[in-house]
Amino acid sequence: MQGQQLYQRAKTRIPGGTQLLSKRPELFLPEQWPSYYASARGVHVTDLDGKAYVDMSIMGVGSCILGYADPDVDHAVKASIDNGVMCTLNAPEEVELAELLCGLHPWAQMVRYARSGGEALSIAVRIARAYTRRDKVAFSGYHGWTDWYLAANLGEEDSLDGHLMPGLDPAGVPHVLRGTALPFHYNRIDQLKTIVDAERDNLAAIVMEPQRGQAPQPGFLEQVRQIASDIGAVLIFDEVTTGFRMTAGGIHLLLGVNPDIAVFAKAMSNGYAMAAIVGTEQVMQAAQSTFISSTNWTERIGPAAALATIQKYRRENVAAHLIGIGNLVTEGWKQAAQEAGLKIHADGLPSLNHFSLDYAEELELTTLFTQLMLDKGYLAYSQFKPSFAHQGYHIEEYLAAVTETFTILADAVEKGDAASRLSGPPARRGFYRLTQ
Ligand SMILES: Cc1ncc(COP(=O)(O)O)c(C=O)c1O
Repeated sequence: MQGQQLYQRAKTRIPGGTQLLSKRPELFLPEQWPSYYASARGVHVTDLDGKAYVDMSIMGVGSCILGYADPDVDHAVKASIDNGVMCTLNAPEEVELAELLCGLHPWAQMVRYARSGGEALSIAVRIARAYTRRDKVAFSGYHGWTDWYLAANLGEEDSLDGHLMPGLDPAGVPHVLRGTALPFHYNRIDQLKTIVDAERDNLAAIVMEPQRGQAPQPGFLEQVRQIASDIGAVLIFDEVTTGFRMTAGGIHLLLGVNPDIAVFAKAMSNGYAMAAIVGTEQVMQAAQSTFISSTNWTERIGPAAALATIQKYRRENVAAHLIGIGNLVTEGWKQAAQEAGLKIHADGLPSLNHFSLDYAEELELTTLFTQLMLDKGYLAYSQFKPSFAHQGYHIEEYLAAVTETFTILADAVEKGDAASRLSGPPARRGFYRLTQ
């Protein structure tokens, strides 16, 4: 398999093999995952050997909500290429996009841009620190790779466990940052209050996703909002993954609680590099009291792609499509599991759903699922991120394949031989160093 051969070469030239942990082949199917793509269009992916798959997994780690190589977005991008994507002067699309984003989020008046989620979160935290002239950040959940966040794991190695990605190693993050990033768990207002009791006058920001795996308990987000306002900290909603999944803009629009800053990336531009820090004028103006500036944040493709993506998203009511397709899949998983006699949990937001197999050998079984589905022509995993390109018939065919596969998994459970049915090692999760 050419993809696996290339991945072996990659590991000798690129530390860790890939630029994003969530694209490591070991996460899905060690030694067998196609690993690289030759082309991707709609929901169809072709690997380096010319084998075609339907992507029923994570669609570019959640970035391609319209489907791969969406013709409308690509048309806008090609037009911007024809007119030059970089210049001594600025791209006018920046202003149009800022107005569009503030129109979608009426509590916000100003916008800055970056080109990736973690980077945009760092900018948001810098603005909050500049605005408050304070250092510390209370946070819940995963927010990327940068120092302000990984500082949570300095000294106490497991602070970030339970915040989406276990085992993140903070090597290279200065020890002086120890104690500056303080974790609390989602829906645990008591934990946030404990942090606030100790650090009331030192907290620059509270950073969290408004919703992810669990729904907010009644009053939770309202209390977080109140606490931030009471202590003068900036409330930052990380909408990097939840943005444009459930509605045009942040999921907070549906939850009825407004932050001071909301951060978007991924889905806002259908796979083109783009990120936005959207906030109130009062807080965002603090960006001028510090230095936040980069050449590549001025290129034209990102804003052109974002404008075309958001315009199509609204025109076609993509949110309703994503939710409908996601619900079909969640229900299909449950039904297939029931028919096969397999114990699963299927949950998450309809447009960000996943299942887990309720067995001790869960990792082997999930790996076997991916292996068997790959044989049937699917990129499939325990997570599914629907796109506008997924149609009802894709889901029907996929669920027929899932039903057959779940029956085999149930048999493997009964015989206790899931591991021996694997053609390679089981998948590896979380953060770890690749040694070969
Ligand atoms: C909630 C959240 N914040 C931040 C990030 C980091 O974004 P990026 O990978 O674009 O740096 C992610 C990525 O998965 C995310 O899910």
